[in-house]
Amino acid sequence: ADPGWSETTDVLVVGSGVAGLTAALHLREQGLHVTVVTKVNIDDGSTRWAQGGIAAVLDPLDTPAAHANDTEIAGVGLCDPAAVRVLVEEGPARVRELMRIGAEFDRHEDGSLMLTREGGHRADRIVHAGGDATGAEVQRALHEAVRRDPWIRLVEHALVLDLLRGADGRACGLTLHVLGEGSADGVGAILARAVVLATGGMGQIYSSTTNPSVSTGDGVALAMRAGAVVTDVEFVQFHPTSFVSAAVTSVQRPLISEALRGEGAHLVDESGKRFMVGQHELAELAPRDVVAKGIHRVLRATGADHVYLDARHLGREFLEHRFPTIVASTRAAGVDPATELIPVAPAAHYASGGVRTDLHGRTSIPGLYACGEVACTGVHGANRLASNSLLEGLVFARRIADDIARDLPPQAEPAPVRETPAWVADPAIRADVQRAMTRGAGVLRSADSLAGTAKELSRLAEQRTTPHNAAWEATNLLTVASALVASAQTRRETRGCHWREDFPVAEDEWRGHLLNGLSPKGRL
Ligand code: SIN
Repeated sequence: ADPGWSETTDVLVVGSGVAGLTAALHLREQGLHVTVVTKVNIDDGSTRWAQGGIAAVLDPLDTPAAHANDTEIAGVGLCDPAAVRVLVEEGPARVRELMRIGAEFDRHEDGSLMLTREGGHRADRIVHAGGDATGAEVQRALHEAVRRDPWIRLVEHALVLDLLRGADGRACGLTLHVLGEGSADGVGAILARAVVLATGGMGQIYSSTTNPSVSTGDGVALAMRAGAVVTDVEFVQFHPTSFVSAAVTSVQRPLISEALRGEGAHLVDESGKRFMVGQHELAELAPRDVVAKGIHRVLRATGADHVYLDARHLGREFLEHRFPTIVASTRAAGVDPATELIPVAPAAHYASGGVRTDLHGRTSIPGLYACGEVACTGVHGANRLASNSLLEGLVFARRIADDIARDLPPQAEPAPVRETPAWVADPAIRADVQRAMTRGAGVLRSADSLAGTAKELSRLAEQRTTPHNAAWEATNLLTVASALVASAQTRRETRGCHWREDFPVAEDEWRGHLLNGLSPKGRL
């Protein structure tokens, strides 16, 4: 339907996590008026759930080359070296900027930053805040800075629908649904001279994830509808250690940060054996895909739904001080990590792929940018290195703001809005999509399991309803789940977090990116 109301801004930013809010602040430094729209409330995205920290070379003995090397090893041959170089070289300055706007990271008594280690890192280079509450501190600092600026308009409870484009094809705004706004159905348009997608991830396509309920792939689905290039969606990373407890009934599961392993906790099976020792030189601190696979093998062999993390030897005082978030969430479920083993299992954590961008965050559609988890900048390859995600948001948000300020055309008149489909997916299918994805397209995949999931998703797509907020969201979930399955079917190899039982090794001929889940002809 045609938008019932409209407003204009210089730059429209969609999403209010680290990527979106950082982009908004840098755009304001360039003197531009910014509107940030966000699906629920400003702090409801994934950023505030991040625990471990931000990886950046802040120790004089560490080097950007070493950080790049660790990033590329984790990415298993699919990282874009130029993008990785940008990430590691510009990262430290962006972290310092974040401190200047008010983020407080943990420090030693002498005032120097505490740096820790996580999986895949061969140096201590991760800053953290409040022990294991880094994301909450980053979100707090950015939120406060954004609220201080009257030239940033914040629109909450706004679900974006479709991209608007001018006669020359350039992005010039979005249609969106804002609760309680304008006409009866609340659908309106925000016109802008550039649009930045920073909508986060898609973990909610699975039955268990570390992502909050808002992570439904809205940005990737919107970009696909608009015809933008989307790559690497098959590479959804499973975090090895989410908390397993009957007391946790939501799809979102509490994260047990890798930093706990970085500080010395061990993974053990039912018999107390450290099963990662001997599987990789870094044992429990191997890259995330390696540890998730190691755990999955134990689960398959034993039929259990969890292994254990043993942190008892770290001591009560240390655990309470360094990991207050983890201690609180496990104790709330009756598990005291100072005296008991913590039951853990892999859960969907991070979309390494997404809307393809260049080094300035530009997508394949002029005027449309993407940043943070929704984007595929090329820094993560087939498996993201721990604590590189907040960093990616910081680094590329700044690059996007610089690029927009360099060349911002006047506001274009949007071409007539394409009729939105008269039907959308029934929100009742959400749990069915999650189950089908977990069963056939999760940590371990095969031609048979993926075919079963594809069939089930097609069946679910037949369950339709009339347009409304939850239905649009369910449609996005189904869209990105289907793209993931198509890509995973196409990629007949095992690489990073894409694990094919029927094609168990990485093949050189597959060392490339799949476009929009399409056939090998679509490879970049
Ligand atoms: C963690 O704290 O284990 C998560 C960090 C990340 O995803 O990079």
